[in-house]
Amino acid sequence: MMLQDSFGRIHDYLRISLTDRCNLNCIYCNPHSSQTNKLKREEELSYEELLRLVNIFVERFGFKKVRLTGGEPLLRKELTNFLSPLFDLKKRFGFQLGITTNGILLNRNVDMLKRYGFDHLNISLDSLNSRSFERITGSNKLNDLISAIENAAHSGFQSLKINTVIIRNVNDYEILDFVRFAAEQNLNVRFIEFMPFSNNGWNESSFISSNEIKEIVETVYKIEKLSSPPNVVGTDYSITGSKGKVGFISSMSDHFCAECNRLRITSTGKLKLCLFSSIGEDLDLKLLLRDKSIPDDCISEKVVASMSNKKFKHPEIIELRKLEKNNMLSIGG
Ligand code: 5AD
Repeated sequence: MMLQDSFGRIHDYLRISLTDRCNLNCIYCNPHSSQTNKLKREEELSYEELLRLVNIFVERFGFKKVRLTGGEPLLRKELTNFLSPLFDLKKRFGFQLGITTNGILLNRNVDMLKRYGFDHLNISLDSLNSRSFERITGSNKLNDLISAIENAAHSGFQSLKINTVIIRNVNDYEILDFVRFAAEQNLNVRFIEFMPFSNNGWNESSFISSNEIKEIVETVYKIEKLSSPPNVVGTDYSITGSKGKVGFISSMSDHFCAECNRLRITSTGKLKLCLFSSIGEDLDLKLLLRDKSIPDDCISEKVVASMSNKKFKHPEIIELRKLEKNNMLSIGG
């Protein structure tokens, strides 16, 4: 059975946040208050619970893609205890497997990701300049991160994408540097519009639209639109004279809700229908998983029922800014 919402959109892409913890402290992501509010271990879904959910989504609903996010997913302890049975499920059901990481722990983990069948690797990188990288992330590990990216680029993943959030007066002066980086390293750099979450400093003047970023790119580079498969967020362009690509993810200025095929599971086991759904709307999967009398059938029925709460489009920006306790650390990107 396929998992459809009230608007006929079929959902087949599951994004799982493994942890709220992160080893960076990015200005746009990590509100200070949430750092002091560390989750207890037992509040996170266990690997066993997560595998049970993945099994339900791929077996019953035919999900085609699973992506691990966070927080920083590579911080989760004994990750191979999860990745090994996850890879077994992948071999059985044939879904695509991806991970979104900040790359700080990537060098020592890239072989593991290859070994356990990852197809898609997304790495966040918001500055190419050590000082501004430190200002944005609080880390002085930019060089390690760049070398991890170069290393990963040669490891044969089906896709490797660099996620770059552009914020006016923070890193907008680096837009052309990022295109050069993409062109020289034959990488796919995707510029993501800055989205408002709780206490993340978003305001109109810090926001730059994809159109404006693209205009800046085109002052120097010739780029050509590539056709994109359905359900892919954003649009990729080839850079003339290079195998590198640039992409624009217009979550704010030109939302892609009509093509949404995603569901998210937070590290504490809430099923999030949308990055911007409000807390009350989320199905509490943890509650169901921890009641031993509840079988898979019942969990999947609740998931089907909760799909009717999925809205056609996320609220307008003015409303988004009012959402409380809505942050990327716990939802996962
Ligand atoms: N706006 C846009 N993108 C964001 N990300 C995190 N917070 C925001 C935000 N406020 C991005 C990260 C990462 C991806 C998972 O989500 O940079 O690449």
